[in-house]
Amino acid sequence: MTWDVEKIREDFPVLSQTVNGKPLVYLDNAASAQMPRPVIERMSAYQSAEHSNIHRGVHYLSQHATTAYEAAREKVKRFINAPDVNCCIFVRGCTEGINLVADSYGKGFIGEGDEILVSQMEHHSNIVPWQVTAEERGAKVVVIPMNERGELIVEEYERLLNQRTKIVALSHVSNSLGTINPVKEMIAAAHKLGVPVCVDAAQSVPHFPVDVQDLDADFFVFSGHKMFGPTGSGIVYGKREWLDKMPPYQTGGSQIRIVSFERTTYAPLPAKFEAGTPAIAAGIGLGAAIDYINGLDFVAAAEHEHQLLEYATERLADIPEVTIIGTAAHKASVLSFTIDGIHPHDIGTILDQEGIAIRAGHHCAQPVMQFYDVPATARASFAFYNTRDEVEQLADAVQKVIEVFA
Ligand code: ALA
Repeated sequence: MTWDVEKIREDFPVLSQTVNGKPLVYLDNAASAQMPRPVIERMSAYQSAEHSNIHRGVHYLSQHATTAYEAAREKVKRFINAPDVNCCIFVRGCTEGINLVADSYGKGFIGEGDEILVSQMEHHSNIVPWQVTAEERGAKVVVIPMNERGELIVEEYERLLNQRTKIVALSHVSNSLGTINPVKEMIAAAHKLGVPVCVDAAQSVPHFPVDVQDLDADFFVFSGHKMFGPTGSGIVYGKREWLDKMPPYQTGGSQIRIVSFERTTYAPLPAKFEAGTPAIAAGIGLGAAIDYINGLDFVAAAEHEHQLLEYATERLADIPEVTIIGTAAHKASVLSFTIDGIHPHDIGTILDQEGIAIRAGHHCAQPVMQFYDVPATARASFAFYNTRDEVEQLADAVQKVIEVFA
């Protein structure tokens, strides 16, 4: 089946505007993807006619909102092929989700002298929560190294796994390099020692189908806003065998069973981890984003996107002043690069004048920048609504940047 990108673009109202007098070329999808009309309309309908607090009201609106919210949870379950809907916990984004796992799993299972394995290419959100946990528990963060192409060195990883390892924290796809990590194999290696793995899936779920049971992931965490849903939505999937034994992350609201001044007991999953009024509209919007993706040929979308990435890589690699940062054999969406003698922020600013939105900076992955000895990179990141023509505009604009600074 061919991918009709022009037709898909009609679903995304934001894409049809001009920026600085030029048609918008939106290549900052790794930071946040755009929402299609059905998601925007679903959230608007909820806000206009359905809003009420959920889970505790006996009145019509509350029950209606609860049903819609729980239906979204069911959609999440099917989307990632989770075995149990109650193991899909709503959070406000991937960062909050990883904080939940690091804090709660840490309190339950990490102690003095233990080790937490974290890869060298992680986003700060999959480093710092583990550092905090390590500090609190007297444990140590150990780094899984990568090679010059930006691929994890799996033999080193297997050597680092040992009896003291209590968890592995790993991105499915690197936000700064685009590397698709061999998480299934790495999870299998950890499981040989009974070690669970927490997968940061923020950059994978928008780009190809995922299956947490096939991966055998213990924790699988992602945001809604990178997968064509709203900000303020996200998911922690965890295996029941862990979640049941982990203490609550935040407390209060309807995550309790019985409260007295002497003692409090907690509700079963998922409520145990959902303190306070959640982001209801965002959760329902995430469900609408999943409906939207399910209505596409997601495999054809992934193939289209991959061709864009390959074409963009080819075009930029042809420019002598450009260095591509992250040349792994398996990549998704992300093309990071530098230009000799030009700061990435200047690249971003000049591209913006051409209506092209990319990201420039350390991408919340400062250890990656340290590894490549660069202060920052420019990063174009693709979604299935981008076009070959946009790639050409990017390459032409990069050439223009070089001429401006010549
Ligand atoms: N984590 C987001 C990014 O990579 C914000 O840009």
